[in-house]
Amino acid sequence: MRSVLTIGSLNLDYVYQVPHFVRPGETLEASSRSIHIGGKGLNQSAALARAGVSVFHCGAIGEDGALLKAHLEHEGVNADFVRVDAERPSGHTVIQVTPEGENSILYFPGTNETLEEAEILSAVRGMEAGDLLLMQNETNGIAQAADAAISLGMHVVFNPAPWKDAAAELPIERFHALIVNETEAAGLLKAHGRGADSPEAVVESLGALYPRTTIILTLGSEGAMWRLPGRSPRRQPAFRVEAVDTTGAGDTFTGYAVRAMIEALDAGDPEAGATLFADGIYRAAMAAAISVTKPGAAESVPTLEEVEAALEAHEAE
Ligand code: RIB
Repeated sequence: MRSVLTIGSLNLDYVYQVPHFVRPGETLEASSRSIHIGGKGLNQSAALARAGVSVFHCGAIGEDGALLKAHLEHEGVNADFVRVDAERPSGHTVIQVTPEGENSILYFPGTNETLEEAEILSAVRGMEAGDLLLMQNETNGIAQAADAAISLGMHVVFNPAPWKDAAAELPIERFHALIVNETEAAGLLKAHGRGADSPEAVVESLGALYPRTTIILTLGSEGAMWRLPGRSPRRQPAFRVEAVDTTGAGDTFTGYAVRAMIEALDAGDPEAGATLFADGIYRAAMAAAISVTKPGAAESVPTLEEVEAALEAHEAE
């Protein structure tokens, strides 16, 4: 099976239970605080590993972040390219979670923004043609990593989260897949002088900008829409669950969606690939739904067995 290299963030998530998001000028008491393992990169690597994919992770932590690397290793992710920086603190977040399970995230990048070109290149060069490179937007070095991976014949999957305007300058037309939420999609379309007023129009418009790239638009509680190159947009509704904490649900979906891409690439013929991809997105939607029923980010990702059991139960209803 193809392997995935994630070049991505590792964060300590400080999660506060609050009655509502703190308002300007307000001092608000939190009813609890817990520290969780997070970072969009780490969460997506954990989701890939729990989905049964072979994963390598490249990133940087401070000495305060030893448990982040240990967590990846515990999940079976190869973390040889996670560097420990003795001088700087790890990336961290302050996350407010409301009684409805909604979150609001303040992100401090720390070591995530200190990746060196040499370490990025050696991580990429350790992979093989046909493998996948997965990146988000919480580290530096995205353009160099993408260039090196494409030269090697790897498939680049990009999730420009959180949105920064510089992402629109990347050669997304050369990427295998783009995974965006509505904010990120609007940022990309605006940068190209476009707009779109429905999820279907967003996917069509991104597909026109990047015709050879698989586009996935995540829609939170409304599920997701996607478009494979040369095909019409498809919709995957979300599974209805009681939300406890939505943090990391998008990352869970992304990890499982990348597994779907691997299955489609391995299918050989495009028709079989498209069917396997749709099945994989169905599975990714269930994985994301299960993750919101549990607190935390990386720790809330379900295993492939849990996802399959939940789908069987859902289909038997
Ligand atoms: O996507 C959720 C993640 O975003 C959290 O784990 C937090 O660390 C931020 O990176």
